[in-house]
Amino acid sequence: MALLNVNIDHVATVRQARRTDEPDPVWAAVQCELAGANGITVHLRQDRRHINDRDVRLLKQTVACKFNLEMSIAEQIVKIAEQIKPHQVTLVPENRQELTTEGGLDCVANKARLAKVIRRMHNKGILVSAFIAPQEEQILVCAELGADAVELHTGPYANAKTDREIEKQLNNLRDARDIAAAAGLIVHAGHGLTYRNIKPVAKIEGLCEFNIGHSIVSRAVLVGMFQATKEMMELIRS
Ligand code: PXP
Repeated sequence: MALLNVNIDHVATVRQARRTDEPDPVWAAVQCELAGANGITVHLRQDRRHINDRDVRLLKQTVACKFNLEMSIAEQIVKIAEQIKPHQVTLVPENRQELTTEGGLDCVANKARLAKVIRRMHNKGILVSAFIAPQEEQILVCAELGADAVELHTGPYANAKTDREIEKQLNNLRDARDIAAAAGLIVHAGHGLTYRNIKPVAKIEGLCEFNIGHSIVSRAVLVGMFQATKEMMELIRS
């Protein structure tokens, strides 16, 4: 069965809306783990818009399942990963203006830098995954550079509108899975996956790990709203 890493970035987004101390992503990670999540994922962005250095430090100390740090290949962030030593890093492109990670990492264009980052992560015993578009040339460079895994970008699938387009994107993921597996890579998938669109992707054999964030945090806000309101009413009444 494929594993689920819950991306808790947007718990920190709510905290940062008030620059306060709640909701704490470290508490959220505990809840995810109690519910059976196989891993916790966070993206330490260079602009620290949600997850910050304190979160990453505490999560490394408290997460008992897999701790997957999404990060760019910028030197400042690579140095932090070397110090923190998460179980796994997922290398992503990062653009300061974007709302979320927009495309896959261009491993072909960044080959020399990527080779160095992968070596440095492996020297610290950290598994390396690269978030890429499901394209052969990207997969083969990752394999050549010794990455452990690739995370196939499911955004184009999630954004597909027609049945034909959805099927085309699922086929792209299946083809990419075959190429990656033949090259000896473990295959992960993520981005834009929701309660509505997960099933067809979850049916693809060989996708070992899903990273899902926004949809789970969104659902958590709504399924928790009833209880949260009741608790505040009780305090006011008492
Ligand atoms: N995988 C990667 C590499 C990401 O950058 C993100 C977003 O941080 C996710 C998965 C999760 O995407 P979503 O929040 O849309 O579930």
